[in-house]
Amino acid sequence: MIELTREEAEAVVGLHAAHVVIYAKTNGTVLSGSSTKNIEQARALVMATIRFDGKIGFPGGFIDPGETWLEGVNRELREELDVDTSNDHLITDDHYVFSFLDKASGFCLHLYACEVTEEKFVDIERGAHDAEHYGFETLGVCRIPLHTSDKGTGLPSFLQHYFIGYAKEELLRALKHTGILSEEEIELAVKIARESES
Ligand code: GTP
Ligand code: MN
Ligand code: MN
Ligand code: MN
Ligand code: MN
Ligand code: MN
Repeated sequence: MIELTREEAEAVVGLHAAHVVIYAKTNGTVLSGSSTKNIEQARALVMATIRFDGKIGFPGGFIDPGETWLEGVNRELREELDVDTSNDHLITDDHYVFSFLDKASGFCLHLYACEVTEEKFVDIERGAHDAEHYGFETLGVCRIPLHTSDKGTGLPSFLQHYFIGYAKEELLRALKHTGILSEEEIELAVKIARESES
């Protein structure tokens, strides 16, 4: 991954794609262990998708010729999640996080992080099944567990899934950028995930 400034990214000739980490604040709780006593604050609701290829990714996709990044990413959210972006774009420049070059594919990739209300988040989850590309390109929408336990459950286990491209790095970047988790919490989850893998 080669990080680019916004200006450098805008100058890249070739394929561009943009993906979004959609999240919401919540007071909700989540099970963090096998006992019903293991309950923790959910911290936030963060949305990932299960892709047609079996990998974990984020909603979004290629920017088509003639589209701006925002037109492209909002269209992809309509196709993949049935988010109504006909009048108002859900994703705006305010949600921009960063851009990078994926050396393996040569694509120029952009990440957005978009906070919505908990109600809107649930609305998007429910509506995803009606999306044009649901069942074809997108096989599911899920919430990412954010707690970290020394047994490796929660975020450390989730990090061991197979992610598309740099989606795992994007997740960590978004968690840090939004302040959903502290740097220490992220580092701990990554460390436990790495130890469990080997
Ligand atoms: P089509 O409509 O079938 O063209 O797919 P799409 O436009 O929805 O594209 P997709 O979401 O698959 O993203 C385009 C490319 O970006 C993929 O081929 C992957 O290499 C990469 N990619 C897909 N999802 C993610 C993601 O969440 N993060 C990152 N970094 N890359 C991704
Ligand atoms: Mn049960
Ligand atoms: Mn798509
Ligand atoms: Mn896509
Ligand atoms: Mn597409
Ligand atoms: Mn498509």
